[in-house]
Amino acid sequence: MSIHPIGIFDSGVGGTSIWKEVNQLLPHEKTIYLADSTNAPYGEKPVEEIRQLSFKNTEYLLSLGCKIIIVACNTATTNAIRELRASYSLPFIGIEPAIKPAALNSKSKAIGILATKGTLSSALFSQTSGLYANDIDVIEVEGNGLVELIEGGKKDSVETEKLLQRLLQPMLLKKIDHLVLGCSHYPYLIPVLKKILPADVHIIDSGEAVARQTKAVLEKNNLLNTTTDFPEPQFFSNKNPAILEDIIDSEGNKYAVNFQDF
Ligand code: SIN
Repeated sequence: MSIHPIGIFDSGVGGTSIWKEVNQLLPHEKTIYLADSTNAPYGEKPVEEIRQLSFKNTEYLLSLGCKIIIVACNTATTNAIRELRASYSLPFIGIEPAIKPAALNSKSKAIGILATKGTLSSALFSQTSGLYANDIDVIEVEGNGLVELIEGGKKDSVETEKLLQRLLQPMLLKKIDHLVLGCSHYPYLIPVLKKILPADVHIIDSGEAVARQTKAVLEKNNLLNTTTDFPEPQFFSNKNPAILEDIIDSEGNKYAVNFQDF
C-alpha cells in the first residue's frame, strides 16, 4: 500500500483525457499532472529531444514523490518509454495507438490512424502495426497542426473542423470503419470528428485501457492507495495555465492549475 501520488505527464493539455479515466477508476489515488505546453508539440521533434524532455518531466515528478509515472503522450511513449524504464526502477505506463482492437473488429478491413509524425515513424508503432494489422489496409495520417489548435484553446473552432475535413479525406475515400486516435490530445476532437465521419465509424482512444493497466500494475506492485480518502489532484503547467483549466473544466471538473517552470 502506498499513499504516494501517481505522476502523469504530457506535452501539454491532451493527457488530461487520460488523467480523467485514471481519476475515475482510481478515486482514492492522488494524481499529479504535468503539462509541458512550452515544448508542445513533441510530435515533430527529433527523437533525442523527445527523450530529453521525457526525462526532464520524469525528474520533476520524482521530486514530488511519485510512485508510478504515466507517460500520457503517444509520441513520448513510442520514442522514450524504453529508455525511461531502463533508467528508473519505478513502473512506467505508456499509451500506444489502439491498433489491435481496431484491426480485429474491422469489417471493411480498412482502418484509419491519426497520430503525430513522431508516433507514426517510431519503431514501436511499426512493430504493433506489423503484428496486428498485416491483412488490413491501414491509412496513416499525420495530424499536423491539431495539437497547436488544441493547445491554443481552439478545439471546437471552424479552423479545426476545416483541417480535420482535409486530413480525414484519404480515410473517407478508403471507407474506414475504425478511426484510432493515436495522440492523447485527439479525444478532445471527438465532437468535431463525429460531425465529419459517417455514424458507423468507431472512434477508438486508449484512455480507459491506460487507466486499467495503471490499476493492474499498482496492484501487482502492492502500491495501491487502500485508504478511503479522495485526494485533490494537482495540476502544473509551464505555459498558459488558463488553457489547462479550461480543458479540465470542459470535463466537468474545477481545479486550479499552478504555473511551474519545470
Ligand atoms: C504532441 O505533442 O505532438 C502530441 C502528443 C501525443 O503524441 O500524444
